[in-house]
Amino acid sequence: MNIFVFRSQAELDAKACELVKAVIHSKPQVTLGLATGSSPVGMYARLVDEVKAKRLSFKSVTTFNLDEYVGLPADHAQSYLTFMNQHLFNHVDIDRANIHMPSAEGHDLEANAKAYHDALWSHTVDLQVLGVGSNGHIGFNEPGTPVDSTVHVVRMHKQTRLDNARFFNSLDEVPEYAISMGISDILRAKKILLIATGAKKAQAIKELVKGKITVDVPCTILQTHPDVTLLLDEDAASLLS
Ligand code: GLP
Repeated sequence: MNIFVFRSQAELDAKACELVKAVIHSKPQVTLGLATGSSPVGMYARLVDEVKAKRLSFKSVTTFNLDEYVGLPADHAQSYLTFMNQHLFNHVDIDRANIHMPSAEGHDLEANAKAYHDALWSHTVDLQVLGVGSNGHIGFNEPGTPVDSTVHVVRMHKQTRLDNARFFNSLDEVPEYAISMGISDILRAKKILLIATGAKKAQAIKELVKGKITVDVPCTILQTHPDVTLLLDEDAASLLS
């Protein structure tokens, strides 16, 4: 596992941008797994700057996002599609046909999950970007999610809903369900880049790096992946020796 600890958010974001850019430039067609949440926001801003400066293009990039809330219309201010549009897709030259998000609309969510799984597994994900929840979840894979899980409908834990309530007017407005890539989907990526900042992530990061591998702390399973890079600030790294 490669672990980088940064004194400033700007340095962390620059490194994240550089790593993603290197993957995009590494071959003619690349597939990225992308994450939402506050952790990758600065990285997306830098990638947008690179595209605007014509040092980077997303024309050859296909994307698959990790997860989406159930119960919010796609154009809702807090849907993950809206997030991705605002932070990346609306500002880069990606072909919209190459953007994939789990669909949380309609009545047959299991069918949506299956369709997303099939589309995902028809690609090799070159790099998966991840954040981590304070309880160690990755994507929306909450504690207890089996290692062989694939795209599935998730009931979010109370802690996750509390953590995400800051983006909504009240806890009641936070959806209870989401559709998420599973652990096996995440592990399939050739490279994994996980970004974590703030003291609230310190325990999860400690477990991720040196805890026992257990489904009770989903991020610990990343210890089994051959190419994981962690980009941390000093607070998130504070429980590592
Ligand atoms: C949500 C997302 C995760 C994300 C996590 C951390 O639960 N489903 O993909 O990693 O939040 O978010 P943040 O980066 O805002 O701390």
